[in-house]
Amino acid sequence: MSRWQELEQQYFMNTVERLPVTLVRGQGARVWDEDGREYLDFVGGWAVNSLGHCHPVVVEAVVEQVHTLIQASNQFYTVPQVRLAELLVQNSCLDKVFFCNSGAEANDGAVKLARRYGKLNLDGGYEIITAMGSFHGRTLAMVAATGQSKFQQPYVPLPDGFVNVEYNRVEAIKAATTNQTCAVMLEPVQGEGGVNLPDDNYLAAVRDWCDRMGILLILDEIQTGLGRAGTLFAYQQLGIEPDIMTLAKGLASGIPIGAILAKDRASVFTPGEHGSTFGGNPLACAAGYATLKYILDQNIAGNARQVGNYLIAGLKHMRHKFQFITEVRGRGLLVALEFSGDIAQSVVMACLDRGLLVNRLKPNALRFMPPLIIGSDEVDEALDILEQALSSIAN
Ligand SMILES: Cc1ncc(COP(=O)(O)O)c(C=O)c1O
Repeated sequence: MSRWQELEQQYFMNTVERLPVTLVRGQGARVWDEDGREYLDFVGGWAVNSLGHCHPVVVEAVVEQVHTLIQASNQFYTVPQVRLAELLVQNSCLDKVFFCNSGAEANDGAVKLARRYGKLNLDGGYEIITAMGSFHGRTLAMVAATGQSKFQQPYVPLPDGFVNVEYNRVEAIKAATTNQTCAVMLEPVQGEGGVNLPDDNYLAAVRDWCDRMGILLILDEIQTGLGRAGTLFAYQQLGIEPDIMTLAKGLASGIPIGAILAKDRASVFTPGEHGSTFGGNPLACAAGYATLKYILDQNIAGNARQVGNYLIAGLKHMRHKFQFITEVRGRGLLVALEFSGDIAQSVVMACLDRGLLVNRLKPNALRFMPPLIIGSDEVDEALDILEQALSSIAN
């Protein structure tokens, strides 16, 4: 254990089982540890480093903004947040934006927005229907929204007003809808829950139900958005539009930021009803603008789709060699590889030894969420290492 790792044990709260590597530098899809060892990064800051590590357009935007204006109160107008909001609205189906600092904060705010809508339009309806297997963040309310008992049990009693129902079954949403319901909140693909892809018509059927009941559809695109799923937003593949959408993770390629976007009719906050000291901070928004502009100009979502398909095809090909691979699934560069047994941790360690970072999604599954700028060369390299790692485990 290195000195940094010992100090971490001494000073840090024990919330995460870390891998035995201290990262000190990153460039593109590569990171280096304190001993100078290089790794190909298919974790990507947990689906955050959309343009890779330290992309020049992000670095330049941040450096320029650091010398100009880092933080100002939201009581004043600032330019980067308006520019980013304009770009988001111009390239989505939503009309208004609120900025915050993380995914959980964006979802928490989206729930507040839906509750305000419910107070104003639905006789005080306040309940939000979410899915089992979902992940919406770690604030107390988002733990209640997250339909996984392992995140909920340590913290009961949880805030009221969330109903978790089966994913991918519109009938479950219909059965849970009452005159207290104000919204349904779903991920287009469940990321943390297992890279679970719903049936093609599920979200269209949910949209239809929400319209019939006059309730809102909130899409949590924190993991799927900004090109990760192969289009700028995953809803664009579904033939539907959300009333509210949340973003975070890849929006500023590594600088903390979150966003709530809403259609005009759902944008019901009035001054003082919601806020955030750092939300829309000029530094984060300058990084967000540079990231989004690059994603749009360079068709990074198209690259994620193409390279993601290449990765999925390569992983499927490996099934011929390794019978214990039971499934490959994903959209764009959000991909899971499932095994018949609980070997994911051993595979993560075997990949780490060989210079590849991958995520243990479940005891029996890996997830790949590399930077969206990678090419087929990097995929080939990752597949080679993975094949060696799987061989070492199979033998
Ligand atoms: C779909 C989804 N929503 C919300 C969150 C929470 O985001 P944050 O960790 O930035 O609070 C995550 C994080 O993994 C996520 O994947």
